[in-house]
Formats: sequence, C-alpha cells, structure tokens
Amino acid sequence: MRNKLVGGNWKMNGGLAANAALLVALSAGWKARPDRQIAVCVPFPYLAQARDVLADTPIAWGAQDLSAHAAGAYTGDVSGGMIVEFGCRYVLAGHSERRQHHGESDAVVAAKTKAALASGLRPIACVGETLAEREAGQWQSVVGRQFETVAEALGRDLPLITLAYEPVWAIGTGRTATPEQAQEVHAFLRERLVRKGAEGVLVLYGGSVKAANASALFAQRDVDGALVGGASLVATEFLGIANA
Ligand code: 13P
Repeated sequence: MRNKLVGGNWKMNGGLAANAALLVALSAGWKARPDRQIAVCVPFPYLAQARDVLADTPIAWGAQDLSAHAAGAYTGDVSGGMIVEFGCRYVLAGHSERRQHHGESDAVVAAKTKAALASGLRPIACVGETLAEREAGQWQSVVGRQFETVAEALGRDLPLITLAYEPVWAIGTGRTATPEQAQEVHAFLRERLVRKGAEGVLVLYGGSVKAANASALFAQRDVDGALVGGASLVATEFLGIANA
C-alpha cells in the first residue's frame, strides 16, 4: 500500500492576512499520520510566510512552478535553488494552467521536472487531457505523450517524482472525473511506471476534489492522493480531504 499525499495548490490566490488565517487553521487541525503527508503549494511571495508558520508542523510546503534554468537572464523567473532556500519540499511542474497560459510544452515541463530534482526538490509533474481531447478519444495518446516526455528526460530518476493526473475539463469546473474515470487513467499511468521500475511513484488526482468526493476517489486502487485547487483555500474542506 502506497502512502497518500494531499497537496493544496493555492494558484494565484491569497494575501498575507488570509494566508495567516489559513495556515494557522491547517497547522492546528492537522495531526501527523504515518500513512499520509499534506502540503501546500503557495505563490512565490508567500514561501517565507508558509515556512514561518509551518516549520515545526507536519505540513510541508512548496511552490507552483520553477524555471528550467539554474540562474541567469530570465527576467521574472524563479529557480529551484531559490525555492529550496525557503525550505520547500515540493514544486509543481507542468500544471495545465502553465501549459495553457504560458505555452509550456512537454519538453519544457520535462526540463522543469529535471531542474527541480537537481535542486533537491520533489517535483509533482502534472499531466491531463482537455475536454476536446477526451471527447475525441485521445486521452491515452495525450497523457501517454506527456508522461513519456518526462520519463525519458528523467531516466533512472523517474522513481523520485510524484505525478498528478489533472484532466483539464475537471479543473475549477465542479465536474470531477468519476472515481472510475480517474482509476482508468491512473491504472494506465501505473502500468507505465511499473514497466519502468518506478512503481513507488505516487499518482495524485486533481480536478474539483472536495471533502465530499475525496473518499470515493481515494478508494480507487491507483489513486494515491489529490492535488486540490479551490477547496485548498478553505481549511475545513482541505482537512476534510486530507482525512478522507
Ligand atoms: P480545482 O480543485 O479548483 O478544480 O483545481 C485543481 C487543480 O488545478 C489543482 O492543481
């Protein structure tokens, strides 16, 4: 049985006062469990705040993106080395909103995943098809291509990452994949991971996860946790998911 990981992706939400209330509520409400880790991925300016509040708690923190480069003339970008200085354990790579709004290709996502490992971070590499791709019967080819690009770039380091399957049509739409739909894709990814000797990699599900639907998703054999957007901004919801 693999342990579970529940990550909150705050996206571009928050502010010092709201974050303080949320982080304090999470640290008060979360009791360490040997089978489960929780983490929050916050906007860059709040990494120090997350560190200051969460340092002596069992809650990990991380960032939502990083540069594929270590340093240099990349205005506005943030390197893995900078992120790690703030005590981060995790960083997201290739979230669909980065792919969509910033044109991140599979190759860029793979390079970012690699850069995260090189910095000592644990990357959570995101894959997932759009609604049009699902309706055209293309989820296997899309998710397979996204996964294989990362796997190829990492080679023997593949076991060191976490994957998140986030169908684009389920993100922020209230339309969660059914537990069976999620399981089908997770099993597809699991099979590829096993073939590459990376059976220990956790595969999280993301897309309209709430306290009310988390248990049914987590009951699926290959769903190893969740990456939570909107519901991670409400302490009771996020803790409800974390305890599901
Ligand atoms: P929602 O939970 O808001 O659908 O977002 C999912 C997501 O994108 C997490 O990374």
